[in-house]
Amino acid sequence: MKTTVLELKRKKGARLVMLTAYDYPSARLAAEAGVDVILVGDSLGMVVLGYETTIPVTMEEMLHHTSAARRGAPETFIVGDMPFLSYATREDALANAGRFMKQAGADSVKVEGGLEAVPVVEALVRAGVPVLGHLGLTPQTASALGGYKLQGKDEASARRILEAAAALERAGCWGIVLELVPAPLARLISERIAIPTIGIGAGPHTDGQVLVFHDLVGLFSGFTPKFVKRYTEAGTAIRDAIAHYAAEVREGTFPADAHSFGLNEEVLKRLYGD
Ligand code: KIV
Repeated sequence: MKTTVLELKRKKGARLVMLTAYDYPSARLAAEAGVDVILVGDSLGMVVLGYETTIPVTMEEMLHHTSAARRGAPETFIVGDMPFLSYATREDALANAGRFMKQAGADSVKVEGGLEAVPVVEALVRAGVPVLGHLGLTPQTASALGGYKLQGKDEASARRILEAAAALERAGCWGIVLELVPAPLARLISERIAIPTIGIGAGPHTDGQVLVFHDLVGLFSGFTPKFVKRYTEAGTAIRDAIAHYAAEVREGTFPADAHSFGLNEEVLKRLYGD
């Protein structure tokens, strides 16, 4: 049975496992491995579509990938990541969140931002859309934050994040992603709010963790931040397999008889006779 938002909220402190997935096979593998939540993140812009940032990602691309992930993981709780400017107004947010849930089968959406995101979160929650917040390093506004840098290092910015977390909880978020913040700050936030925090580059004290699929399995070679742990080198294994295939085609050892289909001798003779 699929997990509900209420169950996720009750899992505060239970070490939730969230992983991004962007298509049928990755979502299927994540579901088979037993993750609690799949995030179809707009990080797909970088790790799947080859953009330099998440800014160019469109709603159409997000819906296309979320639908595929849903087909791969029909029973898993899926969060669709609202792309840049898809929730700039309450009207846009409602329309686009509706598309995520009705067209692509998402169970929830994620929006980036602190106090400025509160009106949009309130409108979504009022309309019945489960919302996951996202604080700290928010990639859609990374440029304004000075790049992909640790956030909340000084007292003023740490306080801003702490206050924003409380405001997002009041606005009705069921959980909050904390990205690239000092571990002690993530711990304090996790202690202060009653909804689950899900960390990435936020240390071990959050209520859950999230990683990007391609980082975890070694499929993205763009850059590997300090907080990423590569659990396997699938990219190397896949490249070696392709090189092996190419070599066998070139030397004529693939396909072998085991990969080929025969034809009745008589039929063949007659065909040659023609
Ligand atoms: O887009 C994404 O994958 C994310 C995660 C890194 C939290 O926002």
